[in-house]
Amino acid sequence: MVFAIGLLVGMVTVVMLLRALDARRTWEDRYPQATMHMLDAQVQQLRASGAANRCAATDALPRLQSLRSLANDIEPAFADLRDDARFAAHAGDLRARLDTALASPPLHCEGAQAVMTSVTEGCNACHRDFRR
Ligand code: HEC
Repeated sequence: MVFAIGLLVGMVTVVMLLRALDARRTWEDRYPQATMHMLDAQVQQLRASGAANRCAATDALPRLQSLRSLANDIEPAFADLRDDARFAAHAGDLRARLDTALASPPLHCEGAQAVMTSVTEGCNACHRDFRR
């Protein structure tokens, strides 16, 4: 009984400690992963529209615009990497891919698929070099 109570109190304490530590994280701590998760959210929703055969320009454009805006945040978000020329080049490359897609938005599913491939190549190129 005493052991069970001790275990419970220990577990509650650990959870409280972890919550307190998490609450101390600032926006700067969260910025990199938050940016990546927002990019990911747009890519996943683009992929889902493709899978559902929704490939009109009006389906893809808002996502592509969000991706393009979010891509501006990559360097500001990664304070430790933004001065690395290769990192900045990868971020610029993703923006260029998105600019190309926005200049001639996909009008059918093959086009949307090609845009997806191009964008995810941009993501993966940087991840290969910089994701720990
Ligand atoms: C210029 C570099 C760069 C580009 C471009 C980039 N990422 Fe990342 N991404 C990173 C780095 C660095 C990490 C590791 C972050 C960390 O763990 O702190 C990461 C991590 C992630 C993660 C995991 C986040 C987590 O919580 O661990 C996801 C998801 C992700 N990126 C999605 C994307 C998507 C989707 C794209 C393209 C639309 C993209 N990234 C483009 C650099 C980049």
